[in-house]
Amino acid sequence: MPKILRVGLVGHGKAGQAVANILSNDPRFELRWIARRSVAGQSHTHPGTDVPIVGIEQHPYAELFESMPVDALVDFSSPESIHAYGEEVRRRGVTLVSAISAYSEDDLAYARSLGDNTRVLCSPNITLGINFLIVAAKLLRKIAPFADVEIVEQHFREKSEISGTARKIAETLEVDGERITSLRLGGIVGHHEVIFGFPHQTVRLTHESIRREAFGTGAAFALTQLADCANGFYTFDDLLLNLMRAELLGADAS
Ligand SMILES: NC(=O)c1ccc[n+]([C@@H]2O[C@H](COP(=O)([O-])OP(=O)(O)OC[C@H]3O[C@@H](n4cnc5c(N)ncnc54)[C@H](OP(=O)(O)O)[C@@H]3O)[C@@H](O)[C@H]2O)c1
Repeated sequence: MPKILRVGLVGHGKAGQAVANILSNDPRFELRWIARRSVAGQSHTHPGTDVPIVGIEQHPYAELFESMPVDALVDFSSPESIHAYGEEVRRRGVTLVSAISAYSEDDLAYARSLGDNTRVLCSPNITLGINFLIVAAKLLRKIAPFADVEIVEQHFREKSEISGTARKIAETLEVDGERITSLRLGGIVGHHEVIFGFPHQTVRLTHESIRREAFGTGAAFALTQLADCANGFYTFDDLLLNLMRAELLGADAS
């Protein structure tokens, strides 16, 4: 029987709450605690569960890791958190899955250094579907460099900036940012489409975000894949490609 992974989650905001919904309902994991900056009053738990929510200002990481040890930490808080728990993670060999989107170069260098002592994944976009779309689009671009490429992104009316995911897709496919079309309509959560125009056919790769719980599915995928990896620093691409390589070449290839 596979080992149940004990997990701590940092961040209980819009994304963290959805991630907690997924991790607390997945029998492969035991979500032991959720940390946020500060918790007022006595005891708080994640809705519908008995998972405690603790304030890091009241209970520093050293104390938390000691009283409720975990095998892995998932971070959906803010860029500074990694500097608060980093050395505990390093010392205890706790696997780290960080979804923080806005790390500086220095933060990323520090995250990479943790990979010397444990398994670390940093992914500014952690949904399984978008990462798969990017890998598939990259492959098609290699196979058919002559095809025209257009990227269409659609989001809710209030989103003012061009989607960072669309810019990442353009960068990965080495196409000009001018090839991104942004539409702002009602309450669309997130739609990304890469269109490959061949002379005699058209290929469309599309991803639709439905709920923030998709971040939790991505984090769960990362946790299970990292369990089979050596210490080191990984991106979501690395995990997907490892899996695809193993699938295509047979079980011995990993
Ligand atoms: N990779 C992805 O695909 C992806 C997807 C969604 C979000 N994210 C990232 O996840 C993070 C959170 O996004 P969000 O929309 O959920 O933000 P949010 O609603 O503002 O929630 C942030 C949460 O993190 C906690 N937090 C912030 N700084 C902390 C610290 N130093 N120590 C402990 N807890 C801290 C906050 O606690 P308090 O309320 O107590 O301050 C809050 O619970 C952002 O960095 C975002 O870029 C990534």
